[in-house]
Amino acid sequence: MCGIVGYIGKRDAAPILMEGLRRLEYRGYDSAGIAVAHMGELRLAKCKGRVRELEKRLPSRFKGAPGIAHTRWATHGEPSDKNAHPHCDATNRIAVIHNGIIENAAALRARLESAGVAFRSETDSEVLAHLIAAMPEHSLDAAVRAALRLVTGTYGLAVLDAARPEAIVAARNGSPVVLGIGEREMFVASDPAALVRHTRSVVYLDDGEVALVRADGFETATLDGGPTAKTPSTINFTSEAFDKGEYAHFMRKEIAEQPEAVGRTLSGRLEPRFQTTHLGGIELAAHELLDIRRVKILGCGSAYIAGCIGAHLIEQLARLPAHAEPASEFRYRNPVIERDTLYLAVSQSGETFDTLAAVQEVKRKGGRVLGIVNVVGSTIARECGRGIYLHAGPEIAVVSTKTFTCTAVALALLAIQLGRIRDLSTADGGRLLAGLAALPEQIDGIVAREPEIARLAEQLVACEHAYFVGRSAGYAVAMEGALKLKEVSYLHAEAYSAAELKHGPLALISPETPTVVVIPRDDLYQKNISTIAEIRARRGPVVAVTHAGEMPAPVDAMFDVPASEPEFDPILLNIPLQLLAYHVALKKGCDIDKPRNLAKSVTVE
Ligand code: AGP
Repeated sequence: MCGIVGYIGKRDAAPILMEGLRRLEYRGYDSAGIAVAHMGELRLAKCKGRVRELEKRLPSRFKGAPGIAHTRWATHGEPSDKNAHPHCDATNRIAVIHNGIIENAAALRARLESAGVAFRSETDSEVLAHLIAAMPEHSLDAAVRAALRLVTGTYGLAVLDAARPEAIVAARNGSPVVLGIGEREMFVASDPAALVRHTRSVVYLDDGEVALVRADGFETATLDGGPTAKTPSTINFTSEAFDKGEYAHFMRKEIAEQPEAVGRTLSGRLEPRFQTTHLGGIELAAHELLDIRRVKILGCGSAYIAGCIGAHLIEQLARLPAHAEPASEFRYRNPVIERDTLYLAVSQSGETFDTLAAVQEVKRKGGRVLGIVNVVGSTIARECGRGIYLHAGPEIAVVSTKTFTCTAVALALLAIQLGRIRDLSTADGGRLLAGLAALPEQIDGIVAREPEIARLAEQLVACEHAYFVGRSAGYAVAMEGALKLKEVSYLHAEAYSAAELKHGPLALISPETPTVVVIPRDDLYQKNISTIAEIRARRGPVVAVTHAGEMPAPVDAMFDVPASEPEFDPILLNIPLQLLAYHVALKKGCDIDKPRNLAKSVTVE
């Protein structure tokens, strides 16, 4: 969602900040803005719309440093020029950019207004600029700390004072802030994607920390001013990982990257000697794993759906009751937390607010929760403290593809580990390990057959509606296929459990409405064949996604995936559906990497 970039050093800030903003575009936003300090004065430009609109509005000589810049995703106040960040104090000396929500903004605003402050926007963030300006403290960092002590809510923020250009100040509470360490220059960002071009040495702020950032270094402290110690870490990815390279879209690039991404998720975690897996990051000894009686998986959107595949695997392989639930529902229903349940929070970004709130609810009630997260050092990863990193690499397209696959693989690893300390035999353990190791090559083979899937997409592109059906784990694949298609192509796609069709949705089947039927090679194969017959009897076109071999029922189109261990069928069956969604969207000319109304990480309620 909102994005932050800051720069302090000898260079002009604007080109660095604008490039940083472009790199944050993938997160989703509706307006953008920039402020730089120049000869003791603040230069400011901001507008509703894309970063390229802002670029057009920048005066040709927009010189100065330090500087801060922002992409906004509206929460308080509509997307507009005046609501775009940075926000300034009355004297246009202090500029603030802010991600998050100030919960006591109304009270603070009333207090400032009664002291004579005139507000220029409808945002909660503007109070920060006026509040900081009103603080008697003589250093900027002390003024920011004093102001933040009055604030309730979440923030990742950066502050610039044109009269004191020797430093910028950044702070974090619930919304990520990372400092980038350069050669006599420093960067601030909400996401390493914005600074990876300049440095790979970074420091992640913790909640409640304020950083004073100078060109030659930084200091961090708590809100009360007590110094904190930070150790820089290295970003493991080069800037190419954040570029589209030869691909037209990040989504397509990330689909193609899945073999390597899955290879990294598996790396070092297979233990052929004992026909099991080993996940060091979960920090649970065998006897603790043995005490688990139930598994509950929490996530939103695709993360939740990957959780459904994981729950199915855990039940199958470890014979433990396992269930996935949208974190957004779980957190609001005063859930019963059990001591012997293992809670898993799934989130590629590690910043999804609903998932974070669910983690906090579990922890508050004494439950044990592990994170299954892609972004290292993200809020959910830290909140959980232990778990499984996906190592899928940066995912820039708003829609999840490689992280969905890697999440399902990570949950498969956990299912095997839980299974092998229970009743899963060494023979089955060995068989499953071989199945996992084969996945990267099999995925590669599916992606190489893209032209076949592009032809399949022609069947859907002219339709207004499409249905996806499957049973059991195949139903989760259908859910993800429908979600992906609606996200990127705006085609109305719904998933139904195949068994539920005749309880209602069958009324919707017509010659104009194709149904994608997901058919794994499981015990329910014959039942899925009957589903095809039911649909075709109502003259509904059927696209079957299944395995090679003869289809015992006529279908209108078919795509087959290679045989894997049946447990991993859902992982392979999902790959053609990703490409299907991509090609429908491509043919419809949609903004594939940035679908309308969506953001990469949903950091608000
Ligand atoms: C996936 O394509 C979506 N854009 C969305 O459903 C996403 O999976 C969801 O918002 C959760 O994100 P997270 O994995 O970063 O928590």
